[in-house]
Amino acid sequence: MAESMIVATTERLILRRWRLDDREPFARLNADPRVMEFLPGTLSRAENDRFVDYIEAQFLQCGFSLYAAELRQDQRFIGFIGVHVPKFLAAFMPCVEIGWRLAADVWGQGLATEGGLEVVRHSFAVLGLEELVSFTAIVNTKSQRVMQKIGMTHDPAGDFDHPRVPKGHPLCRHVLYRLSRADWKRNRNI
Ligand SMILES: CC(C)(COP(=O)(O)OP(=O)(O)OC[C@H]1O[C@@H](n2cnc3c(N)ncnc32)[C@H](O)[C@@H]1OP(=O)(O)O)[C@@H](O)C(=O)NCCC(=O)NCCS
Repeated sequence: MAESMIVATTERLILRRWRLDDREPFARLNADPRVMEFLPGTLSRAENDRFVDYIEAQFLQCGFSLYAAELRQDQRFIGFIGVHVPKFLAAFMPCVEIGWRLAADVWGQGLATEGGLEVVRHSFAVLGLEELVSFTAIVNTKSQRVMQKIGMTHDPAGDFDHPRVPKGHPLCRHVLYRLSRADWKRNRNI
């Protein structure tokens, strides 16, 4: 793989720019109801490809994005872990959100946490970002666990109703987590 494709590596993961041949396994993952349980719904192939186009556009616009995650042991594409600039209106905007979505068969091995920790380090130490946020539906406790394990803190004052989800829907209420570069640096030195 060309060095320029790689953004960061961890013990078990390569985080990199997207390749054309990632689209097909990503479409399978986005069509899996287990993966999309706490998201608005599964994606069609066309919706999947539009999402990857958005991810690529973020790279060009911001110099960062949701990185393709690949297992080092067998070079398998397993989803994304990365950062992006969400576009909807909310009190905490503008912001950079850290997020993750992995194929269900690799869950529960600490991969989101491992990649998330590296994306945090890269975002603060290499990209020089000031703060990361993360948010998810209240019912998505797995994702919140990852937020906690990478050092983020729940900001209850920032919890919000997602404007793209109908009021009263179980996925409408979202929790907001934050991590500033200053807090990340401080905690690393403890
Ligand atoms: C969220 C996701 C990325 C986590 O990936 P992962 O590699 O399994 O995460 P990790 O193994 O690093 O950590 C998961 C943690 O959640 C915990 N967990 C698992 N199921 C849980 C549940 N139902 N409730 C609460 N915690 C749960 C695990 O025990 C683990 O915590 P621990 O290490 O303290 O035991 C993965 O489940 C996923 O892709 N989900 C679908 C997409 C998604 O929801 N993305 C977030 C949208 S905001």
